[in-house]
Amino acid sequence: MNLLFVVAEMAPFATSGGLGDAITGIAHALARLEQSVTVLMPRYQWLGDLGEARPGEGPARGIYHHEEAGIRVLLVDDPESFDRPGIYGPEPGSAYEDEWRRWGRFCQTAAAVSGQFDLVHLHDAQTAPTALLSSAPTVLTLHNAAYSVQGPLDEAVALFEGHPDAADLLEWYGAANYLKGGILAADQVTTVSRGYARQIAEDPAVSSGLNEFVAGLDHAVVGILNGIEIRRFDPETDDAIPVPFGPDDLTGRSAARQELLARTGLDGSGVLFGMVGRMTGQKGLELLDPVIDQLIGSGFRLVAVGNGDQDYLVDGWAARAPGAVWHGPYSEELARLVWAGGDSFLMPSRFEPGGLGNLYAMRYGAPPVVRLTGGLASTVIDLTDHPASANGFGFEDYTPEALRETVERAMGVLRDQPDVWAALQRAGMTTDWGWDPAARRYLDLYERVLSRS
Ligand code: GLC
Repeated sequence: MNLLFVVAEMAPFATSGGLGDAITGIAHALARLEQSVTVLMPRYQWLGDLGEARPGEGPARGIYHHEEAGIRVLLVDDPESFDRPGIYGPEPGSAYEDEWRRWGRFCQTAAAVSGQFDLVHLHDAQTAPTALLSSAPTVLTLHNAAYSVQGPLDEAVALFEGHPDAADLLEWYGAANYLKGGILAADQVTTVSRGYARQIAEDPAVSSGLNEFVAGLDHAVVGILNGIEIRRFDPETDDAIPVPFGPDDLTGRSAARQELLARTGLDGSGVLFGMVGRMTGQKGLELLDPVIDQLIGSGFRLVAVGNGDQDYLVDGWAARAPGAVWHGPYSEELARLVWAGGDSFLMPSRFEPGGLGNLYAMRYGAPPVVRLTGGLASTVIDLTDHPASANGFGFEDYTPEALRETVERAMGVLRDQPDVWAALQRAGMTTDWGWDPAARRYLDLYERVLSRS
């Protein structure tokens, strides 16, 4: 099948959180199934050296062609939209005021090339309304429905006037809403776990208020669980960690832990937790805030890697307790060290469509502590609930108390029951978290969509 992915992020060229990793993972897994995958993304300011220039389509001045590991990457050259310092805004967590215009133009270019493909796979709100204009059938995957991209109705609708019902499809409380338009116009909507597929059909808080539209679709939203690239993320071959290790011999983990302590200046006596990703309201930082001092008193230590609009919370903890909490910007190398050298990994998310940090942590032998929501509920098995098959710890109530109790329960097991802890590590490290099952499900889905259209 000749597939076009239309995306804002693709690792390693542009990533702000899990989306970029997910795109690369799915694309390569589909290529292993002998499918032809082309990824269309913006030619961001920092990608100036990539690819060979070809003529533009739609509003694009040009399209640069680049090929990497069997995947064709098309970079849309539209300087007024993308010659800027960030993906969505100048700072992590901020948004450009003309998001609707720059992504609308990008969708126009995507639609202009769509006829060359059998099927177009759109990802998240920025690229969703391509579905209104695409010449090929479309699948829209929601990696995070909390971001919707809104703009002035008349001007935004004008960008999609090729569709006779553009105004109706896009209109939302007097504005244009790209996520709504995409959800209604796509031939099939999917998301990245079954739990989150249910949530976005029910809960206005996680679906940008679009739950009723999701629930009313002719074809129910399909949940396909994300994987990780197990070849690229493997503690037995990872250059970012000082001594390689695998499920049968974990001794290398202590060298990674030492290195992590040396880089962050944290004191190593406690239990070292990692957090990696966007520091935003989604991630449950507000649960940790009221109980962190008490937890630090019981030995909790935290390395937090990544930025977002709640940086101030994490920076506050680090300023108050410099030997116990460290916060720094995202770097893949440091993230790898956190998974390999952290004792455990914390993800108390308010909601979590898929969740990748939990999978990386398990692959690297750090049993996670998570809130059991969305994709976290599909992958993390709690020790108390399921002692024989457990790979970590989870809680359901979104309260600081539930978080505190679960973190303390995990710290207790690590200190007092090393054999039980080792079994959790082994369970996480020996599970196959790869992308292949997801790719097979996407391919089945594409075939169903094509047979309907
Ligand atoms: C977003 C979601 C995350 C998901 C990722 C990839 O970052 O917040 O849960 O894993 O997209 O699908």
